[in-house]
Amino acid sequence: MNASAALQTFLAQASRKDLQIGIVGLGYVGLPLALRCVDAGFRVLGLDIDAAKVEALKSGRSYIKHIADDRIAAAEASGWEMSTDFSRARAADVLIICVPTPLNKHREPDLGFVIATTESLLPYLRPGHLVSLESTTYPGTTEEELRPRIEQGGLKVGDDVFLVYSPEREDPGNPTFTTRTIPKVIGGTTPNCLKAGQAVYQMIVDDVVPVSSTQAAEMTKLMENIHRAVNIGLVNEMKIAADRMGLDIHEIISAAATKPFGFVPYRPGPGLGGHCIPIDPFYLTWKAREYGVNTRFIELAGEINSAMPLWVMQKLASALNAQAKPVRGSRVLVLGLAYKKNIDDLRHSPSVELLELLRDAGADFAYSDPYVPHFPKLREHRFDLSHTTLTPASLAACDCVLIATDHDDFDYAMILQHAPLILDTRGRYQGIHTNVVAA
Ligand SMILES: NC(=O)c1ccc[n+]([C@@H]2O[C@H](COP(=O)([O-])OP(=O)(O)OC[C@H]3O[C@@H](n4cnc5c(N)ncnc54)[C@H](O)[C@@H]3O)[C@@H](O)[C@H]2O)c1
Repeated sequence: MNASAALQTFLAQASRKDLQIGIVGLGYVGLPLALRCVDAGFRVLGLDIDAAKVEALKSGRSYIKHIADDRIAAAEASGWEMSTDFSRARAADVLIICVPTPLNKHREPDLGFVIATTESLLPYLRPGHLVSLESTTYPGTTEEELRPRIEQGGLKVGDDVFLVYSPEREDPGNPTFTTRTIPKVIGGTTPNCLKAGQAVYQMIVDDVVPVSSTQAAEMTKLMENIHRAVNIGLVNEMKIAADRMGLDIHEIISAAATKPFGFVPYRPGPGLGGHCIPIDPFYLTWKAREYGVNTRFIELAGEINSAMPLWVMQKLASALNAQAKPVRGSRVLVLGLAYKKNIDDLRHSPSVELLELLRDAGADFAYSDPYVPHFPKLREHRFDLSHTTLTPASLAACDCVLIATDHDDFDYAMILQHAPLILDTRGRYQGIHTNVVAA
């Protein structure tokens, strides 16, 4: 079959939704995408190496707090297929890769998951397949890492198989935007690849934004996250300056945000968290070095943001000191372990770093987070701790309540009434309260 015939066949199948979409990696990105594909009327195959996740999905259970069990059960009833058997990939028509892209211990890109996944799929690739990488990565990954591996078996990208990069913009817990309503950027390795990719994605999301290459799509995702990381670094620095001047940074940001143009409000906090913002900028930093470019803004923002937990600890020490108490032995209750409010994701959470700093300083610490009943097993962090329920008595028993993540479920009026001292890193309390210290 020539290139355009392969494309025509693919496009005809797509227009009838006669495609099985395989999602590889069923985490925070892959699982909502799989659900969306079911809702869009496609047959869906989910592949993951984590048998526990696959078993949970098969029995109609969600392992992500903001995705309800009944959505999984409905998808299961509709006939989606969840599996750890990668040979099932042969039957799928589209393979969308949503696996982690962390940093290694030298803070360099670790493409191990992407490459392992690609290699597990290679034996099952066949003419007519569309492969889409969604994991966040540096410009050039699809072209330099995926394309040669796919072509080494004799398949020609653009002729036999189609290859695109389409970054995920999932915002877990965001009630306003869903997988469907978040516009999706896509770049193809060749024009035919882009056409095939657009044909599928336009039936999954409301708005598809084509760009000229996979590299442009990869860079777009980094641009978005770097924009965020740098601006958060900026407001964190402004917060420290405002604090020294006796000014409330949150009041100032809110006032500045009344400007109807040219200002985007970002809020300071105890540090960066999550799987994206603390990590992704360094994918660009690493790649830019190959081109002799030092990404100084990114490095500086990283420096400021990663120093925030230490700054919060200093504020804690001086707030306790003002009450003639040392950090050592003081009872400190950390509110919110997740890296942002109303979700259960602890990855790279500054709250966890704060727990570590409290442990190092000898504090008597505990946490309260209704989304995290028990501190889970994490690769780099171990705490034998469980959620403390907030009551007037548990609050009064603390020397300090440290608001690290301001979940909406917390009763802030009760906290204000009963906690002897509150260190507020999120600007939850406006105005003057004798027991609140901004941090
Ligand atoms: N979490 C977010 O909010 C978010 C938002 C936008 C982009 N991203 C990007 O999306 C990608 C995935 O992130 P995530 O948060 O979904 O990660 P995750 O850790 O929640 O999920 C990844 C899944 O991939 C599976 N996996 C690992 N190796 C595999 C392999 N070889 N084959 C099949 N499955 C494998 C894991 O078991 C896990 O279920 C990352 O590149 C991330 O930067 C994440």
